[in-house]
Amino acid sequence: MNIIVTGGAGFIGSNFVFYEREKHPEDRIVCVDKLTYAGNLSTLEPVMQDPMFRFVKADICDRAAMEQLFEEEKPDMVVNFAAESHVDRSIENPEIFLETNIIGTAVLMDTCRKYGIKRYHQVSTDEVYGDLPMDRPDLFFTEETPLHTSSPYSSSKASADLLVNAYHRTYGLPVSISRCSNNYGPYQFPEKLIPLMIANALADKPLPVYGEGLNIRDWLYVEDHCKAIDIIIREGKVGEVYNIGGHNEMRNIDIVKLILDYLGKPESLITHVTDRKGHDQRYAIDPAKIHSELGWLPETMFKDGIVKTIEWYLNNKSWWEEIISGEYQNYYQEMYGNR
Ligand code: NAD
Ligand code: TYD
Repeated sequence: MNIIVTGGAGFIGSNFVFYEREKHPEDRIVCVDKLTYAGNLSTLEPVMQDPMFRFVKADICDRAAMEQLFEEEKPDMVVNFAAESHVDRSIENPEIFLETNIIGTAVLMDTCRKYGIKRYHQVSTDEVYGDLPMDRPDLFFTEETPLHTSSPYSSSKASADLLVNAYHRTYGLPVSISRCSNNYGPYQFPEKLIPLMIANALADKPLPVYGEGLNIRDWLYVEDHCKAIDIIIREGKVGEVYNIGGHNEMRNIDIVKLILDYLGKPESLITHVTDRKGHDQRYAIDPAKIHSELGWLPETMFKDGIVKTIEWYLNNKSWWEEIISGEYQNYYQEMYGNR
């Protein structure tokens, strides 16, 4: 099979490329990535010389480039990870989120229609369901939960999901959608909670916790997400949505304390800063459908995954130190300077 993986130079996409090369060496992977601030070609170095791998620098919104690529590759499947993915950036500048996350998805699906495809898979997020109240721990997001978004990021992802369903119903495009909870693991860009806190702690810099840090996220080790997508694209039903999560709810403050403790750094580094606008309270996935229909279960417990992750950042300092030495400094100043 020939699989186009968009956004494969980013966090989850790169982990998915590695997972596929290992698990299905008979399949060819073509990675399409615009290499925005979040894309890093050095991440893909281990597969760059692999004859079953090709990297193409392109924008998923560029129709001509996508058509040329499909003409050359005649892909069997497309797995779309390409996105603007950071909520805080979407609050500052929504437009690029609409462009990449909505228009990019439409252009990819149009190209799939034109050239024919066995499966178009949309990598979505639990954030499309909005948030759950803190005083109802009995509630979880199911595939039937109405879309009810909070941020420009989640709104753009929900819009894309609606378009994917529309292309299925209107044109019969063979699609599937997965909605996963928060991921953590190797190669996550250090603007996101866990790698940001690790990097700051190692530099003895303040750890900026939004508000009281009581918001809850449902954390899943990135490899478990990759495994779930792999099963969905091969065995999942066309036209279906699958929620992905491992019932691992944690308060932000507890994660930050755990990181400090592991690194032997003092809790006095924690600095409570102004809360995120429209901050979602709690995310929690009900993964019953993917478990019962496809037999997927997470393999990595949080207590092990977080250690693996911290150790990865300790052992791969050059990867993230290079990132935070450049343009990231301006971002950090703008986002946290006067917070
Ligand atoms: P990321 O920001 O680390 O990577 C995104 C990648 O997409 C980058 O390599 C970037 O260069 C590329 N890209 C951006 N715009 C592009 C464009 N116009 N054309 C081609 N490439 C482009 O993101 P991530 O955390 O790896 O997330 C990947 C996908 O998974 C996203 O769709 C996101 O919504 C979804 N998701 C993420 C999480 C999470 O916790 N990180 C959870 C659930 C779902
Ligand atoms: P993040 O990693 O941005 O993921 P998302 O907003 O998509 O869930 O943030 C995870 C949680 O951590 C979220 O509740 C916001 C909080 N947070 C902080 O408290 N401080 C920070 O510097 C960042 C980046 C996030």
